[in-house]
Amino acid sequence: MQGPNKLDLAHLPTPVQKLEKLSTRLREINANSPEIHIKRDDFSGMEVSGNKIRKLEYSLLEAKNQGCDLLITCGGIQSNHCRATAAIGARMGLKVVLLLMGKACDAPVGNHFMDGFFGATVHMIPSDEAIASLEDLFPKYASLYEEKGYKPYLIPTGASNGIGAFGYKNCMKEIMDNGGKAYDAIVVTVGSAGTYAGLLLGKEAYGFEGDVYGINIAADHDYFFNRTKAVIEESNIYMAQPVSIPDQWIKIIDGYQGDGYALNRPEDFAFIKEIGAMEGLLVDPVYTGKALKGLVAECEKGTFDHCERVLFIHTGGLYGLLAKSGEMASYL
Ligand SMILES: Cc1ncc(COP(=O)(O)O)c(C=O)c1O
Repeated sequence: MQGPNKLDLAHLPTPVQKLEKLSTRLREINANSPEIHIKRDDFSGMEVSGNKIRKLEYSLLEAKNQGCDLLITCGGIQSNHCRATAAIGARMGLKVVLLLMGKACDAPVGNHFMDGFFGATVHMIPSDEAIASLEDLFPKYASLYEEKGYKPYLIPTGASNGIGAFGYKNCMKEIMDNGGKAYDAIVVTVGSAGTYAGLLLGKEAYGFEGDVYGINIAADHDYFFNRTKAVIEESNIYMAQPVSIPDQWIKIIDGYQGDGYALNRPEDFAFIKEIGAMEGLLVDPVYTGKALKGLVAECEKGTFDHCERVLFIHTGGLYGLLAKSGEMASYL
């Protein structure tokens, strides 16, 4: 494959299942609605569950090749990416430092609980800190740990950079090697755009003929359109033959972020609960729940009427769901 090599850290290939009842229900509402299939990247590994481990397979080989012994990364307090990095760092014998946006709490839950469980050092960054993004703090924390004798490797939010995106270029290969031609479209959640950018690189490399849609769960269309292009450009640094992804391939479906990142409305919880009871499937309130809700709404509207079969990639988030169990209790 054109591009960098990787470590084997995830349980791959992940399985695909048809969402029978959801597909039937959608056809009752709109007779032209497609079958919905789901690729279970939430099965990529118990502790590392979700999409991040595919990206980390690439980042961590780079860290290893550079002789680094410390991983510094960042995210929200319930970051799935930070939890996966903490777990895999422990497995690989690397120290992990997490910069988490939020307030320290006595009884951490969900992903944040696991960060500590896996032995990561957590620095809480108050949300009123005068920074544009958590990555702005990387130089400060890198110097702090260099002074202690470590050689840090810096992983941006969500591992959504040029190297991380190869994780989902490779996922597209996995899809194509396992009957990918049967799908007319692929739909995925967009949070920091590395997953989506990687799938587009994979579409170019492995000839997926359908469209690849991203449903953003924060910010807006233009922000993620530009982010996707930026990540692809960065990935090109790693390729002997840079590729060009046409702008019209970037199909961000905006409008399902609700009140914004990690904020939920009652209808989000009601949807997650409905899917749980209908399909025995867990989706999370921050990422996959909002995106799947978006896909369902778009099927009802007819956006996917041209498709026989759509593949939704379940990018994980279970532990974030557990962190919101209190808020969700009244929906059970
Ligand atoms: C569970 C889950 N799904 C989807 C995403 C979005 O992936 P990306 O950040 O690559 O856009 C994330 C992280 O942001 C995530 O944790």
